[in-house]
Amino acid sequence: MEPTNDPPAAGDNTPPLADRDAPPATGDGAPPAARGSVPAVTDDSAPDDSDGAWPESGQASESVLHVNNRAHSLTLDHRTTLLDALREHLGLTGAKKGCDHGQCGACTVLVDGRRANSCLLLAVAQDGRQITTVEGLAEGERLHPLQEAFLERDALQCGYCTPGQICSAVGVLAEAADGFPSHVTPATASPGAPVELGEDEIRERMSGNLCRCGAYPRIVEAVGDVSAKDAAAGRGVAS
Ligand code: FES
Ligand code: FES
Repeated sequence: MEPTNDPPAAGDNTPPLADRDAPPATGDGAPPAARGSVPAVTDDSAPDDSDGAWPESGQASESVLHVNNRAHSLTLDHRTTLLDALREHLGLTGAKKGCDHGQCGACTVLVDGRRANSCLLLAVAQDGRQITTVEGLAEGERLHPLQEAFLERDALQCGYCTPGQICSAVGVLAEAADGFPSHVTPATASPGAPVELGEDEIRERMSGNLCRCGAYPRIVEAVGDVSAKDAAAGRGVAS
């Protein structure tokens, strides 16, 4: 009987040919591998289908991570996230692992000055970039203005989210100064002009950083304090 893609007629138990799980037809009924006609897999980057494990070779690379103005040469498994590289290889435990899925913001760091969820970045891909973690914000004994503001406003409870909140807030101030609009920036705002950080702007821009303790009101106040000081000093933010 000739194969067909037509739906089987009533009473016909022959399965339709279009079965994506079925092996390609070989003419003799044997799967290709059993006939020795498929070349061996030589790409080390591909998983070994025989047992689902990755091959031994080709897993790791030498990388140079520039973190808080220091260069670190590391041999990293290609699957290592930036968050794990910071915490497990460099001992920088400020960035926290909350969800490990890019949804809580606890792992926020700055990459070339822009905030990023380090749990979503592969470490080897950051070779040559400038990474700043919460440990790198202070200058010696002098805290970053946002660190001071969080203390003054008591903008934390357990503190687990705080490093991510502070790094994110550093990014927010820079984004607003550089004229990046947010979802709540008025459509009438001049493109590229510094954005004034009112409460709505701060809440919207910080919305990727969750706080299970609910310290949001004081976090907003702390970020607002620094934004207002920057504006008063003429540092980039519109007054
Ligand atoms: S741990 Fe990265 S976003 Fe939650
Ligand atoms: S202060 Fe506890 S999670 Fe934010």
